[in-house]
Amino acid sequence: MDKLKQSPAWINLEHHAQLVKRYHMRDMFNADPNRAEKYSFSAAGIFLDYSKNLVTQEVLDNLFDLAEQRGVKAKMEAMFSGEKINTTEDRAVLHTALRNFSGKPVMFEGKDVMPDVMDTLKKIKMFTESIHNKTHTGYTGKPIDKVVAIGIGGSFLGPKIVTEALKPYKHKSLDVVFVANVDGCHIADVLADCDAQSTLFVMSSKSFGTQETLQNTLTAKDWFLKQGTSQKDIAKHFVAVSSNVKAAVDFGMDENNVFPMGDWVGGRYSLWSAIGLPISLALGYENFEAILKGAFEMDTHFQEAPLEQNMPVILAMLGVWYRNFVGAQSHALLPYCHYLRGFPAYVQQLDMESNGKSTTLDGRTVDYGTGPIIWGSEGSNGQHSFYQLIHQSNVPVPADFMFPLNTPHHEGELQNLHHQMLASNCFGQTQALMQGKTFKECLDDLSESSLSQEEKERLAAHKTMPGNNPSNTLIFDQVDPSTLGALIAMYEHKVLVQGCIWDLNSFDQWGVELGKVLGNQVLDMIQGELPLDNADSSTQALIKRFTQS
Ligand code: F6P
Repeated sequence: MDKLKQSPAWINLEHHAQLVKRYHMRDMFNADPNRAEKYSFSAAGIFLDYSKNLVTQEVLDNLFDLAEQRGVKAKMEAMFSGEKINTTEDRAVLHTALRNFSGKPVMFEGKDVMPDVMDTLKKIKMFTESIHNKTHTGYTGKPIDKVVAIGIGGSFLGPKIVTEALKPYKHKSLDVVFVANVDGCHIADVLADCDAQSTLFVMSSKSFGTQETLQNTLTAKDWFLKQGTSQKDIAKHFVAVSSNVKAAVDFGMDENNVFPMGDWVGGRYSLWSAIGLPISLALGYENFEAILKGAFEMDTHFQEAPLEQNMPVILAMLGVWYRNFVGAQSHALLPYCHYLRGFPAYVQQLDMESNGKSTTLDGRTVDYGTGPIIWGSEGSNGQHSFYQLIHQSNVPVPADFMFPLNTPHHEGELQNLHHQMLASNCFGQTQALMQGKTFKECLDDLSESSLSQEEKERLAAHKTMPGNNPSNTLIFDQVDPSTLGALIAMYEHKVLVQGCIWDLNSFDQWGVELGKVLGNQVLDMIQGELPLDNADSSTQALIKRFTQS
């Protein structure tokens, strides 16, 4: 594959990046009354307005040429067809098979994976129903009324943000709570509110080797056995989700209580697998399946739509434009929706653990920007926190705004007023970011002031808003299972496209290994299993400060 910066489209884009410095989006909108309509469309229940971007049609054309030249379509087909595109772990990347409702097989190493996928979905459905219809009870015969889902990273974030986002769909008589951090306060707080007779623990770990999850599960088991229960009661109250079934059984899980997942599902792409069991328990299997079907709709769009009408491709290539040609280091996700407040954290792992890398597939060090820093929080809260920077700093912060047209709390005038305010904040902010406020406009505002001309000009300088801050606005009818599935799948595919452009392996995560190894060594030093002098003076001092506290 050609080196990225030698591709013709990249060279053209470097030229356009110089030109675009002279443009202002205000002028683009004034010059083309149809701009909004031209750069808006819908797919899989999501409406995207990407007109408030610092791009001309020529820039867009070159971005799509770049996608073509970098083989985006081929990479997409390789993923969907089970090729081992995770080349450093010799694995396929088949999270799309988990939501494949096409009826067609998905071949991996000569075998159709769909029968196993369907078997696991059936196991999830049956188990969910047994909990909801109270045929699966606790050791004293009480029905299960609380689920404690233990996991971290992709074994936690997906289930957590999905159950949070779809709270209005929650099963009435079952509470699902999450434990992730190894900080003992987390599990202690959760256990304090549990009744051993009616609590089910779902331990999720693809590797079944993650310190936090293993420790939290051991602590939960220790607590459970101190509640007047016995070892034989464990099977009724502990289930596991893992690709390492043997390790789960060796850990003490009943083999019938282990929900398997394929090795070809990456952790941060796994909520569609049995990792989604807490979602099914919290919302009911039908809603879990609706999430899968929404993702499938986005998969179909991604596979079928031409690059220039392809939502994940457009979002990805706009991100490449800002990251590699406009100087952005980060990308903000700003959901104007309380239920989507966890969405930025989910995409943080999805995007940053996938493309936060600097080595190309063939082992060269990149000489261009790659994965952006993903951050954000629910609107309108951010307006009273970090929007100052987005409006007036000298670093570009491209942002995705999200807004549901309808809210589950729509009773009465007051709720309608809330939603009107939410909409007005969302749309008003994207407008302000785009158009800004000129020095002259700020000076005119001060014309009646008694300040001296010098003071007026000084103050006007502080009030000037450059504008030209790019944003995408994503609108959907409501936050329902299908839409959420499509939204998440859209960001998964955006990550695939950007990883393809940057020639990265988006599906391994070697960068997290060293911290784990050194963390275990420090633990041995704290516990006196290893001499401190192996560590640097700072680490030694920190350990001493801890052990002597
Ligand atoms: O952060 C590293 C990582 O492996 C993530 O990719 C993964 O989602 C998380 O840890 C949890 O891993 P596991 O599901 O194997 O416990």
